[in-house]
Amino acid sequence: MHYMVNIYKDIKIINADNLTYAGNLENLKGVENNPNYTFVEADICDKEAIEDISNNNGIDYVVNFAAESYVDSSIRELEVFVKTNVLGTATLLNAAKKQW
Ligand SMILES: NC(=O)c1ccc[n+]([C@@H]2O[C@H](COP(=O)([O-])OP(=O)(O)OC[C@H]3O[C@@H](n4cnc5c(N)ncnc54)[C@H](O)[C@@H]3O)[C@@H](O)[C@H]2O)c1
Repeated sequence: MHYMVNIYKDIKIINADNLTYAGNLENLKGVENNPNYTFVEADICDKEAIEDISNNNGIDYVVNFAAESYVDSSIRELEVFVKTNVLGTATLLNAAKKQW
């Protein structure tokens, strides 16, 4: 995020993250006040929230970094892993298709 926000200053970047155990706003302190950066606390599985972001911002590109990346938890809580990785991706794609 730091790289993208600082290199692509003319591009508006919206970061949607629902701040799971892996998310930490402290990591974004360096970019949070950049004029081209906006943070939205949102779950990528939340159709309404994602469509809101998509419809109100004329999004050109979607990059999906949201993930249950802790391997042990993907084994212990398979449903959460599948939900974010599969349903979340489908929700992002559907919102993009609707806006297209
Ligand atoms: N870190 C690396 O070196 C690396 C290398 C190659 C690929 N990747 C891939 O990049 C992706 C991200 O990796 P990372 O290391 O940044 O992971 P991470 O666990 O540090 O961060 C994942 C982020 O996703 C957010 N998140 C989880 N579920 C969400 C949901 N339903 N809606 C919105 N946000 C959600 C979390 O709050 C967190 O901020 C993964 O798919 C990973 O496999 C990472």
